[in-house]
Amino acid sequence: MIAELEPLTQKLDMQRMPAHLAIITDGNGRWARARGQDRLIGHANGYRAVRKIIRACSDLGVKVLSFYTFSTENWRRPREEVEGLMRLIEQAAREELPVMHRSGVRIRVSGRRSELPLSLQEALARAEELTAQNETITLHLAINYGGRAELVDAVVELAKRAQQGELNPEAITEESIHACLYQPDLPDPDLVIRTAGEERTSNFLLWQSAYSELYFYPNPWPDFDVPDLVDAIAEYQRRIRKYGGLAE
Ligand code: IPE
Ligand code: IPE
Ligand code: MG
Repeated sequence: MIAELEPLTQKLDMQRMPAHLAIITDGNGRWARARGQDRLIGHANGYRAVRKIIRACSDLGVKVLSFYTFSTENWRRPREEVEGLMRLIEQAAREELPVMHRSGVRIRVSGRRSELPLSLQEALARAEELTAQNETITLHLAINYGGRAELVDAVVELAKRAQQGELNPEAITEESIHACLYQPDLPDPDLVIRTAGEERTSNFLLWQSAYSELYFYPNPWPDFDVPDLVDAIAEYQRRIRKYGGLAE
């Protein structure tokens, strides 16, 4: 366990960890601007925070950790920023892979991958392939991901099956839609954290977060550190989840 985490675990019930924690890592640009630096410096520092939080979540026994890495809407940004982000994601995927693999991290990627640079597609495929059997924690990266795009892709798939006579449209259920999502075997997020004081989902895991607990952190993502993670999980553990029913 990382040294700074050990004393903080007193704040937590280790038997009630969120099985799936999803994070919208917002505010890299603002973090950089506050320092008079280029936005890409903000993204590089965001990546440092990502590394640390992966370690901490793995130590805490979180089984699935999702990061909103690049949205289907982020292509609207200036070309230099988009290219810089793609380079950074690819560099991270390549450099971190051996360490991740040794630490038992299984990597999964969601999103419209065919629109990503080819070399990045290859790096991601290699990361998934190499780590497929790992079991300590699943690192789920949403890259060129949109919750609406994911639902469109699922609807297209179901329509194709119906057209081919394999599926009766009347028999479509929540389960059949769920089965056509990008990662049908992952549990829904228990807790979604968004940083930088923004309080919206921005198209992240729309279907899956229907009953997720939401937690908002006021500062930019590169400032999010291990004690902040512990605070977020402690707050999650104080929440009462009812799923439309009544509290026991
Ligand atoms: C989040 O930080 C990272 C990505 C969207 C890739 P931003 O780049 O959105 O940072 P702000 O919101 O402009 O500060
Ligand atoms: C959400 O942040 C997307 C990622 C963190 C990748 P954005 O900065 O893109 O979201 P908006 O534009 O503020 O809603
Ligand atoms: Mg933002």
